[in-house]
Amino acid sequence: MYDFSLHKSLDQLLKEKGLQIQDKDNAFYIRLMANASAIRSLFFEIYGHRADAQAYLDQLNQTILSGYQNRPERMKEKDQEKEGKTNWFLSPDITGMSLYVDRFCGHLNNMPDKLAYLKHLGVNLLHLMPLFESPASESDGGYAVSDFRKVDSRFGSLEDLERLREKMDENGQYLMLDIVLNHTSRQHPWAVRAKNGEADYQDYYYMFPDRHLPDQFDHYMPEIFPESSPGNFTYVEECGKWVMSVFHYYQWDLNYTNPRVFIEMLDTIYFYANIGVDILRIDAPAFIWKQLGTACQNLYQAHIILRLIKLCVQCSTPGMALLGEAIVAPSAIIKYFGTDAFTARECDLAYNATQMALQWDALATGNTQIMVSGQHDILQKPYGCSWINYTRCHDDIGLAYDDYFVQLAGYNPWDHKNFIKNYYTGYQHGSDASGALFSYNPRNHDSRLSGSLASLCGLEKSIQQNNPEKIQKSLHKILLMQANSIFLGGIPMLFYGDELGYTNDYSFLQDPSKSYDNRWMHRPIIDWDRTQKIGELGSPEEILFNGTRKLISIRKSHPAFGDYKNIGWLAPHNDYIAGFIRDFYERKVYCLFNYKDQDAYLTWFAFKQNGNSPSHLFDYWEEREYTVGLDHEYLILRPYQFLILEAKY
Ligand code: GLC
Ligand code: GLC
Repeated sequence: MYDFSLHKSLDQLLKEKGLQIQDKDNAFYIRLMANASAIRSLFFEIYGHRADAQAYLDQLNQTILSGYQNRPERMKEKDQEKEGKTNWFLSPDITGMSLYVDRFCGHLNNMPDKLAYLKHLGVNLLHLMPLFESPASESDGGYAVSDFRKVDSRFGSLEDLERLREKMDENGQYLMLDIVLNHTSRQHPWAVRAKNGEADYQDYYYMFPDRHLPDQFDHYMPEIFPESSPGNFTYVEECGKWVMSVFHYYQWDLNYTNPRVFIEMLDTIYFYANIGVDILRIDAPAFIWKQLGTACQNLYQAHIILRLIKLCVQCSTPGMALLGEAIVAPSAIIKYFGTDAFTARECDLAYNATQMALQWDALATGNTQIMVSGQHDILQKPYGCSWINYTRCHDDIGLAYDDYFVQLAGYNPWDHKNFIKNYYTGYQHGSDASGALFSYNPRNHDSRLSGSLASLCGLEKSIQQNNPEKIQKSLHKILLMQANSIFLGGIPMLFYGDELGYTNDYSFLQDPSKSYDNRWMHRPIIDWDRTQKIGELGSPEEILFNGTRKLISIRKSHPAFGDYKNIGWLAPHNDYIAGFIRDFYERKVYCLFNYKDQDAYLTWFAFKQNGNSPSHLFDYWEEREYTVGLDHEYLILRPYQFLILEAKY
């Protein structure tokens, strides 16, 4: 609804602050006026019942304004360039990599020298794992932040980060950082003040005088780390209270029913935006709202808060895209792109966790049926938003896909998921994988999986067994997995070390600050001497590095690989093969993946079912041309072979 008094007061505020709304600040002025009413509605949806709601709204508007005023000129220019491209992140030009600065190259100051390596690989988006201050002995890999604005001295300083960003900018590389929105370290100053008994700061968290409410919450809430941090509350001796700590006991959940928390965190978001972050990874957004009697995940209010953040960012720092790290059920993930009037107006990007897990499923069984039916949810992504596609990341693999589709494929869901876990932990007969169960919960026997891409694909065991044939097979599996995720629409996000075939690293077991968390087994320390092996023809490093590089370059070379709602899955003809078509105007590329450890036959009819039938097909991967045969003849895919076929007429 049009709200004259709101617009009038904003107009007044901008004038007082000396903005030149008809001149250099005009674009901001337009964005603010276009969004101000929606911002107010969303804010009041959550905080409107409070007597002080209006005062907080005024504070919010001030924060929006200062977010803009603190934005360096160069970034305002970049905002404009990105606006000119409409949803710049949909382009097939962008490929990312997640990495821990210290484990990748020791220190932020060594990063600039490594940019050439990344550029050579084709990576132009860097997700630097959390860099802000986090107590070394209880850091959760940096996700337990004790100062949101100070770079941890383990990595360097804020100036080092800024220098790196400038260098990346010169190289045309984008930056992605995290905001850990859901919790702080128990050593954050807010937490320290809460421990000291300051009521205002206790109100930043969920603190309770006794177990009465915690017990009720616990009844409905699942446990995230049942082995190392069971339950969802921790007793705080200093103040004699129970605090909500959904993740580890040292990560205290922030209380977003308190508008001060929201405004402080929004201000931090602007701080990151103005360092020059291109994609902000919002850590664990599914968890940010809690309500008694629910699982405290994916709640309606969590979406309201994300929408509010999106609109505020759109006003002040519009070039920064938002990525929601919602690793939840398939039908719940899709809602992070927004629903109803807010469709495509919440997170710009989300992790395609469903697809990731489904690929691991197909690789274990050699059957792509569940992956194909799982597209039902994945394909509902609205235009203008995009996926982060990945095979591995720093976290575990959860088998969170729908049991219904498992049943449709003829499996018993419980037995099937056990089979997958046995397969990747190497207990299943015939499996060469070496992974481990993560977060086993004895109460419901739930668990997830850890392990590096290479180890889960069998490379670790094949090398131990010195079996050249199996080594080759593992390399094929790795490239198949990467190819499938790279050619789907969305930004491919590699995990550092996977481009070189790093297998599990078990040294974390010797470090008490890590030994309780086996996700560290797949977070390698890069040995740059080993990287030289890229030059040794036929070595696993050479095959994987050059293979990954080629996949990225094929993707960049073709507009059909941008994410414009231009993907259609092929009707299944052979369950071993997953296949989809990417198209762009008249051009069509068939992407086919054989997940079976045996030849797979595909009728040529498969290429005649979707509009004009091609006469030839050119495979970009092996650089060879096929003539389309008769319907009763077959295209034969070798075990774990994939084809990226452009249709020729
Ligand atoms: C996210 C991170 C994960 C971390 C958790 C708690 O899921 O990816 O590594 O443990 O949040 O912050
Ligand atoms: C849970 C959370 C996810 C987090 C992971 C860490 O799956 O949903 O956000 O990354 O735990 O293991």
